[in-house]
Amino acid sequence: MSPESQQPEQTPARSHMRHPLSFVRRSNRLTPRRQRAWDAALGQELLDIPQGQRDTAVADDFRIDWKTEFGRDAELIVEIGTGSGEAVAHAAAQHPEKNFLAVEVYRPGVAQLVSRLRREGLRNVRVANVDATEVLDKLLPEDSVAELWVFFPDPWHKKKHNKRRLVQDSFVEKIAHVLPDGGIWRLATDWSGYAVQMRDTISASRAFTNAHAGQRVGQESPLTAVRLEDLDARSMGKTPQPLPLDEAVDDVGGWAPRFEGRIQTDFETKALKAGRKIFDLTFVRTPRT
Ligand SMILES: C[S@@+](CC[C@H](N)C(=O)[O-])C[C@H]1O[C@@H](n2cnc3c(N)ncnc32)[C@H](O)[C@@H]1O
Repeated sequence: MSPESQQPEQTPARSHMRHPLSFVRRSNRLTPRRQRAWDAALGQELLDIPQGQRDTAVADDFRIDWKTEFGRDAELIVEIGTGSGEAVAHAAAQHPEKNFLAVEVYRPGVAQLVSRLRREGLRNVRVANVDATEVLDKLLPEDSVAELWVFFPDPWHKKKHNKRRLVQDSFVEKIAHVLPDGGIWRLATDWSGYAVQMRDTISASRAFTNAHAGQRVGQESPLTAVRLEDLDARSMGKTPQPLPLDEAVDDVGGWAPRFEGRIQTDFETKALKAGRKIFDLTFVRTPRT
C-alpha cells in the first residue's frame, strides 16, 4: 500500500479475527530435570496462567497487574517467540532496572529459560508459555510496553504457509495497542521475503514509522545482495534463480542497523552459516491523533 492510499488511523481495536496459528506443536515433553525446573519456577518466574479454550490460550477473565507481579514500576520490554531465551536473558542481565516479559509456546525452550534465570539470579524476567496473540489481547493493557521485540519469528517461507506468519495486519494492530506513543518495535529475520512483508505491512500502518526509512538502499541493502545471488534458495540447497541487476536492486531500503542489544542466538548462527542475510527493522509508535 502506498502512503497516499493509507486511511487515517482509527482508534486501534483489538482484532479477534481467527488466523491460522503461527506455530506447530512440536514435542512439548520435558526431561525430568527440565520438569523440576519448570515446577520450581511455576508461579514465580514462570507465570501461572489459567488456560483458555486451547492449551496455548489465556482464560478470558484472567489479567495480570504488572506492577504487583514485578514488585515495582519499571519499563516493560516484551520479547515474543523467545525460543530458549538467549536474547531476553542477556538483555535482562544488562538492564536490571527494566522488567522483561518472555513469551514462548515451546515448553522445552521455556524450561531452559527459567533454569537459566534461576542459575543467574535474574529476577526481572517473567515468562508466559502461551500464544503471543493471547498475551497481547488479554494480558498487556494499552500503552503498557516500552519496547517490543520479535527476533527471527518462524518464517513459514513456503507460499502456501505464508498466512501463518506472525507479522500481518491484525498482529500490527495488536502491537500498536500495547505500545505508547514513541514506543519501539524491533524485529529481525533471516528470510528476505518475510523481511519485505514485515517492512511493507508495518510501514503501511499509520500507527508506525520506520525509524530508518530510506536507509540502506541499493548496494548497501541486504535485500539486493540476497536477490543478486538468490541466497535464500542457495541456503536450502535449491537451484538459485538470481535476478538481473536492474530487478535485484532494492531502492526502498528501510533496514535498521543491527540492534546492539540483540545478541547472536544459536538460531542466527545457523542462518549465517547457511549463507542467509540478516534483516533488522525498527519502528516507532506514531503519536495517536
Ligand atoms: C525461529 S524461533 C526463534 C527463537 C529466538 N527468537 C531466536 O532468535 O533464537 C521462533 C520461536 O517463536 C515461537 N513462536 C511462534 N509463534 C508463537 C506465538 N504465537 N506465540 C509465542 N511464541 C511463538 C516458536 O515456538 C519458536 O520458538
